[in-house]
Amino acid sequence: MGRFFVGITGASGHAYAEALVRALVLAGNGVDLSITRAGALVIQHELGIDAGERGERLQASLSGWLGEEIAQEVRVFLPEEVGAPPSSGTALGSGAILCPCSMGTLGRVAAGFSSNLVERVADVALKEGRRLVLVPRETPLSQIHLENMARLAGMGAVILPAMPGFYHRPTSIEDLVAHVVGKILDRVGVEHAVSSRWSGLEEPPVEPGTTPPEED
Ligand SMILES: Cc1cc2nc3c(=O)[nH]c(=O)nc-3n(C[C@H](O)[C@H](O)[C@H](O)COP(=O)(O)O)c2cc1C
Repeated sequence: MGRFFVGITGASGHAYAEALVRALVLAGNGVDLSITRAGALVIQHELGIDAGERGERLQASLSGWLGEEIAQEVRVFLPEEVGAPPSSGTALGSGAILCPCSMGTLGRVAAGFSSNLVERVADVALKEGRRLVLVPRETPLSQIHLENMARLAGMGAVILPAMPGFYHRPTSIEDLVAHVVGKILDRVGVEHAVSSRWSGLEEPPVEPGTTPPEED
């Protein structure tokens, strides 16, 4: 169906990236993937994936990480490959998602740095008016972080913090991750059943000794 760019940075929360890539491919999409140098450190630390210092071992690690079926649909680019196909305004991808997005990358995108492929793809999405979703993770947030987010939102980017809700009553980390990934998929127009949809509050329990209200 579509082809999405997923940029993984050095923010915490690589479980979100894993679930996102999986969900995009299972929904019939291809994924162009790039990881920053800091991202390569964090993915090793959080998920035990050996991406190499510059992401050069990520392609080889894909099938062990995501399984062969998913890996087949993922193309990996090194962060310094600023001339790779997704970096051009002529490449008509379905959208770019930076997940998780560090405050460093977010600030550099807000300032138009384009110092690696992840930042360049985001820069291109902004200049071409294409779909760009940033999934920042940091807490607390400084005024610099907040101003950078406001600036990007003003340019049309979607700021979708890795900030799962609890109203769907999660019972596992996977449930929390799925809640954020479902929100991302909604914003990029991918149909999914990754997370449940809100169907309203349950009826409050009837107090003992009282009669339940009659139905109309
Ligand atoms: C284990 C670990 C966790 C980190 N978590 C975060 C985080 O949640 N948010 C953030 O903005 N930076 C985080 N950092 C710091 C970034 O990795 C660092 O600022 C880096 O320069 C970002 O580079 P990048 O934007 O090119 O990926 C973390 C670093 C490490 C080593």
